[in-house]
Amino acid sequence: MQYETIVVERHDQVALITLNRPEAMNALSAQMMVEMHGVINELDSDDRCRAIVLTGNEKAFAAGADIKEMVDQTYLTAVQTEFLGEWDCIANCRTPIVAAVAGYALGGGCEIAMMCDFILAADNAKFGQPEISIGTIPGLGGTQRLTRLVGKSKSMEMSLTGRMMDAEEAERAGLVSRIVPLEELQSEAIKVATKIAGFSKPAVLLAKECVLAANNTTLDQGMRTERRAFHSLFGTPDQKEGMQAFIDKRKAKFS
Ligand code: CAA
Repeated sequence: MQYETIVVERHDQVALITLNRPEAMNALSAQMMVEMHGVINELDSDDRCRAIVLTGNEKAFAAGADIKEMVDQTYLTAVQTEFLGEWDCIANCRTPIVAAVAGYALGGGCEIAMMCDFILAADNAKFGQPEISIGTIPGLGGTQRLTRLVGKSKSMEMSLTGRMMDAEEAERAGLVSRIVPLEELQSEAIKVATKIAGFSKPAVLLAKECVLAANNTTLDQGMRTERRAFHSLFGTPDQKEGMQAFIDKRKAKFS
């Protein structure tokens, strides 16, 4: 399928999605949302795709929802169309998604990066929720996911003042998993995604589900979810192969 606002490439079992509106700092347009919704759903049901990398360009991962498209939005149209709701496809995707962020990740850009499973940041990355400066607030999870990731104080400061975090601060605060030199960002993200793609698929899916459950449940319920998921993996050939391969001192061949 042909896309205009994104580029999709396959690297064996890894799909690389590049946001591609450089003229607008990769602002999240309605067309981009529809294209992303289509491609994420397609990749998520494609057994040959075992991990996804989502990236932008060197200047911008994405500078937020498209302000020029949004300026005339009304309350009625926003509610009736569940405005921006299709972006939730990223959070709902079962296939692991790594965000590779260089440059600006602002507003909706920061929010879709946080919908991914983890963020690798280039050393020039900048994260922010500047919606307050244009008379609005985050609408794709910024007040919720950012608060869970970095705590109330930093999240509040970012949402109330629009202050940006650089990559170092984002790493210290737990927003990103690690920082990579800009020129290595894409190759490192593909390398990490390839590593994930090589593991047992049921184990990967359950590991992701269990980590996500940590933010949605009590500790007790989360522990139950994890324990049952752990038990269930003893029903897979990959568990037998993985553990036998360790004992035999050879590389596991997951089915
Ligand atoms: N929407 C639409 N266009 C955008 C945009 C956005 N979010 N961000 C940048 N652009 C456009 C600019 O209008 C400009 O286009 P023109 O050349 O046609 O004028 C082009 O991208 C380049 O941008 P700048 O000239 O501003 O570049 P800069 O280097 O001086 O600044 C920036 C870069 C700091 C990212 C600045 O563009 C900026 O502040 N952008 C807006 C950030 C923002 O407020 N994001 C939140 C949006 S609301 C939201 O996301 C709600 C939500 O939660 C879902």
